[in-house]
Amino acid sequence: MKNRWSWILRNFLEFYTLTLPVGPVLVPSKPAAIYPRKGATGFSASSTAEEATQGLDGTGLTAIVTGASSGIGTETARVLGLRGVHVVMGVRNLTAGRGVKETIVRQNPNAKIDAMELDLSSMASVRKFAADFKSSGLPLNILM
Ligand SMILES: NC(=O)c1ccc[n+]([C@@H]2O[C@H](COP(=O)([O-])OP(=O)(O)OC[C@H]3O[C@@H](n4cnc5c(N)ncnc54)[C@H](OP(=O)(O)O)[C@@H]3O)[C@@H](O)[C@H]2O)c1
Repeated sequence: MKNRWSWILRNFLEFYTLTLPVGPVLVPSKPAAIYPRKGATGFSASSTAEEATQGLDGTGLTAIVTGASSGIGTETARVLGLRGVHVVMGVRNLTAGRGVKETIVRQNPNAKIDAMELDLSSMASVRKFAADFKSSGLPLNILM
């Protein structure tokens, strides 16, 4: 019972106030308050990448992760690296990409991470990235 109350307090009683033309409206501050239930996969909207990949061994796999210089892409690269996947980050800003790589490797020295230039708005850049990746001889198991 105590656990249930603490769950309710944690997920439903954290709100922020939006002031709309109709007056102040309370909005839940956590997605878990809106989508608290786990789906058929056993995960919910508040599940983390680490939770979703718990127990998986990605050794021997290679993933290309686009948009890895920030946000969801960075977290995806970090967690795939944590699971032993060789991650090739496709980034349009190589300086930012190398910074992300350094941060990930500092946290996990075993992580295999590479940063390669890729601007998805340029077909020439996409072709060059594909050619460079092909010449690396790495397999492509995961494309994100
Ligand atoms: N389906 C869902 O439920 C859901 C939920 C959240 C997000 N999303 C989507 O997931 C994606 C990532 O979200 P986010 O919050 O992590 O966004 P973000 O922090 O803005 O990251 C976007 C990434 O894409 C890169 N990028 C943008 N244009 C590019 C281009 N032309 N070539 C190469 N890289 C490019 C950015 O690189 P720079 O660092 O160079 O700008 C950045 O690394 C977005 O498309 C978002 O809409 C989906």
